[in-house]
Amino acid sequence: MKPEFARTGRIRDRVGRNARKTMGMRHTRRVTSTLGQDHLASTEAATDLWRTAVVYQIYPRSFADSNGDGIGDLPGITSRVPYLRSLAVDAVWLSPFYPSALADGGYDIDDHRQVDPRLGSLADFDAMVSSLHAANIKVIVDIVPNHTSNRHPWFIAALAAGRGTPERDRYLFRDGHGRGGELPPNDWESLFGGSAWAPAGDGQWYFHCFAAEQPDLNWENEEVREDFRRTVRFWADRGADGFRIDVAHGLRKDMSEPYQPGGEISDLMREDGSHPLWDRDDVHEIYADWRRIFNSYDPPRYAVAEAIVHPSRRARYASADSLGNAFNFDMLDADWRADDYRSVINSGIADMISNGSTTSWLLSCHDTPRVATRYGLPLEKDRLAQQVARAWLLNDGATPRLDPALGERRARAAIMILLALPGSTYIYQGDELGLHEVADLPREALEDPMASRSTKEKGRDGCRVPLPWSSDGPSYGFGAQAAHLPQPDWFSAYAVSVQEADPRSTLNLYRRALALRGGLFAGNDFGWVDSEPSVLHFACGDGVRCVTNFGADPASLPPGEVILGSAPLADGRLPSDTTVWLRTG
Ligand code: NOJ
Repeated sequence: MKPEFARTGRIRDRVGRNARKTMGMRHTRRVTSTLGQDHLASTEAATDLWRTAVVYQIYPRSFADSNGDGIGDLPGITSRVPYLRSLAVDAVWLSPFYPSALADGGYDIDDHRQVDPRLGSLADFDAMVSSLHAANIKVIVDIVPNHTSNRHPWFIAALAAGRGTPERDRYLFRDGHGRGGELPPNDWESLFGGSAWAPAGDGQWYFHCFAAEQPDLNWENEEVREDFRRTVRFWADRGADGFRIDVAHGLRKDMSEPYQPGGEISDLMREDGSHPLWDRDDVHEIYADWRRIFNSYDPPRYAVAEAIVHPSRRARYASADSLGNAFNFDMLDADWRADDYRSVINSGIADMISNGSTTSWLLSCHDTPRVATRYGLPLEKDRLAQQVARAWLLNDGATPRLDPALGERRARAAIMILLALPGSTYIYQGDELGLHEVADLPREALEDPMASRSTKEKGRDGCRVPLPWSSDGPSYGFGAQAAHLPQPDWFSAYAVSVQEADPRSTLNLYRRALALRGGLFAGNDFGWVDSEPSVLHFACGDGVRCVTNFGADPASLPPGEVILGSAPLADGRLPSDTTVWLRTG
């Protein structure tokens, strides 16, 4: 199996060139006419905000450390609410802050309804939510239903109880092969590398899609279902406005024999729901059940799926009777090319039309190399493979060199495209500072299990290095002591305090763009405007256009007033790697 994060495969132009030409100027009207007014009326009232929300992703351990232990925490987040308010984001999504041995950055959870004591307490969670709500910022928490940690009381009980017991039925235990069951049940591989089976010590093996410390749950088991109903209610009752569902495409599995051979299932994205592990049709029963819970709240709770599925099947996760929204990961694979962007935008808009929801755009998250670094590497056919190698190779001379300024310039242009599109946008912490991947973390400092299981891949720590808030101090204002992952010297120049003082900084560009966005874009307007192939040009609001020049030479602009630019114009023309929002009257 390839790592989930590889998201391999070419960007597919599902809409196709011919359809693209005929898509028309106003897709909102198309959505309305496709789905009918009743459908829109029933879903829109509750989800209006979420259809266009800008959500800021916080990786709690690396955001702000309030008690000087080198680990970010919930009071740290509370202390930075003024910063979040100054960004004018609508919501924050918190990656897991639950008790965990950190075998997978907190996605290995000991207790889904508690706060890791190193990050605070439930009272700290309540205080953080109150403070965010007072600033008019909604809160999304991460629900991780595919697995627990191996320290979870259920898993400890399952190991102790032995084969055939109700305790084991909550997980996926199977008999091993060989005389004493000393061989794994099959040749399936974990997404982090190595066998997907770990021995229970008594001839049985348990299944884990990710690290061995993350045993997969059995979603055929009613106790498992009931426990997660309790978990979503628990956080909703404590003020969570929404949920990000981890591995949403993975909960239902066909573990019956004969097993499909590992070689046959290495392509994760099937179009027909026949993969034994991923994107099975019956997974939506779980979300229909949760949707009833979400809709029992006023306002209904929001949810967004992390579903790594064939693009043709993504819309099902975003439908009103399932989770209601799904990340559009295609932008993570898109190269800095006008055609790649056109294709991804067309496919995202086609999804919106088909499910009556919106899509959620993103340029980075805690699993991907930072966008400024991706766009600072030369374009090459196999660049995706380089990305997955996570810039580990950037320093070895064999890999093309990074041009940091070019990457930042393109990343600034890119976020202005995303913010002008219909739909919701997720911003990963630190992208608003133009931060790069920290490519040269020493091997002994790495925390990600992807690194320890591979000699080639350095894993995901390079985008998880704690944020620089000030230009000096033991951890650049992150906390009173050194941070849990070492911060490089160059972080100083990217610090929040430095950027606040510079009107041309990336932070100030984000602030201006976010402040303007709500008033400029109605949220659903979109239409392509004819342009040269290397220029992306669309109408996105009342008399407002978004124009990006991906070409090497300056491009001409239609007459109009520049509202905001990712870089200054050159003699009235749009320079390379620049986006402007224009009012054309
Ligand atoms: C997806 C999360 O984004 C990633 O960080 C994690 O390793 C896996 N799911 C497993 O929970």
